[in-house]
Amino acid sequence: MAFSKDFIWGAAAAAYQVEGAWNEDGKGPNIWDVTAKYNEHIKHSETGEVSADHYHHMKEDVALMKEMGLKAYRFSISWTRVLPEGIGKVNEKGLQFYSDLVDELLANGIEPLVTIYHWDYPYALEQIGGWRNKASSDWFLEYTKVIVDALSDRVKYWMTLNEPQCALGCGYLVGAFAPFQKCSTPELLEMGANMLLAHGKAVKYIRENAKQESKISMAPYADCYAPEDDSPEAFEKAYKESFVSKGDQFLFSMSYWSDPIYLGHYPEDFMAQFGDMVPKFTDEEWAMISAPLDFYGVNIYRVGSGNASRGEYGRDWYQGRPHTGIGWAVTPEALYWAPKMLYKRYGLPVMITENGMSEHDWVSLDGKVHDTYRIDFTHRYLRELKRVSEEIPLVGYMHWSVMDNYEWADGYDERFGLIYVDYQTQKRTIKDSGYWYKSVLESNGSEL
Ligand code: BGC
Repeated sequence: MAFSKDFIWGAAAAAYQVEGAWNEDGKGPNIWDVTAKYNEHIKHSETGEVSADHYHHMKEDVALMKEMGLKAYRFSISWTRVLPEGIGKVNEKGLQFYSDLVDELLANGIEPLVTIYHWDYPYALEQIGGWRNKASSDWFLEYTKVIVDALSDRVKYWMTLNEPQCALGCGYLVGAFAPFQKCSTPELLEMGANMLLAHGKAVKYIRENAKQESKISMAPYADCYAPEDDSPEAFEKAYKESFVSKGDQFLFSMSYWSDPIYLGHYPEDFMAQFGDMVPKFTDEEWAMISAPLDFYGVNIYRVGSGNASRGEYGRDWYQGRPHTGIGWAVTPEALYWAPKMLYKRYGLPVMITENGMSEHDWVSLDGKVHDTYRIDFTHRYLRELKRVSEEIPLVGYMHWSVMDNYEWADGYDERFGLIYVDYQTQKRTIKDSGYWYKSVLESNGSEL
């Protein structure tokens, strides 16, 4: 059986990772612009200042997307390109860039999918407390208003937050991503609550004000565990452990974010541990946070690997498995088990908002990029997605990434793209995997 005929095949990227032009045309600084430079956590002290220079290569990049037959492009908006200080004065030139991008995509038959926030938090707001500040959800609402008012006549798909787990967990708990802080548990609880509220306020605004009927979701990551065998007991065990949310790493769990948003309450194990410390929401706030969404958007790269914060299941799971460039185990079954478990828990059709692999690709003497491993990887993962498509409703699949880009703390060493980018010359080359992906889209996955 093939994927449904309206299945959306596409690819994704995020503003800070591809755009470059970090201080052009009135853009304000974000936390990565300011704190990543010469930071001990960042490989080779690399930054996204220039990156793939998508800001100046936008039309060329959209043409390449068309050449690969993409039906959709998921991109994020740089908050400080639009509002240099995070709130207040709008930078019309920055807003124009996204309006032009949307027009260019639509003119080429590509559906724009907008991520409102993908980690590049305004530095000016960070200096007055960032997500710790009670006003932070209103700042997010102000920013959402600006982009929804400007783009919702043409944009239908909105994702509020990308991987809030990592935005807070990596940035403020382990301190490995900008702004490289290690905050106390009460602070993290406050920040998490403000981010949930920001999501809720944004959803409400989009529902009430978008110029066309919208499809709204978010894009957390999921690393569900795979059952140890075919028995129902093994499934239940893996399912249960996949949604554990306790210990000081609660921010990295799925249920801490998704239970409030999709079920209207915090997870029980989390409440049992933090109870009185957890900031309270009013009924009205809970209603906003848990307002119905249209699908469950999710980034899936691998199955869970068992760690102390998430229960003991799956210890040694990765032992001896093949790994991608960044060191992640190749576990195609993730695209079967995670959507199945997420559907069981949250009951919504699933969109894979990211999936892909990094390697250390290069251009061969014949001028092409022969990334057979990426073809094999994606083939294996998509077969599992196809398997689950026979059991649950799916909305689409966005490959990560459309083009090579700045891989956060790994700098430019890790290449995730379907398009190779030569960062010295900004020359683009569609990789073999890009052409292979095109054939998958053309047959709507029937030959996988
Ligand atoms: C993020 C992307 C990142 C990718 C690969 C996801 O965690 O949303 O920004 O590049 O995975 O690490």
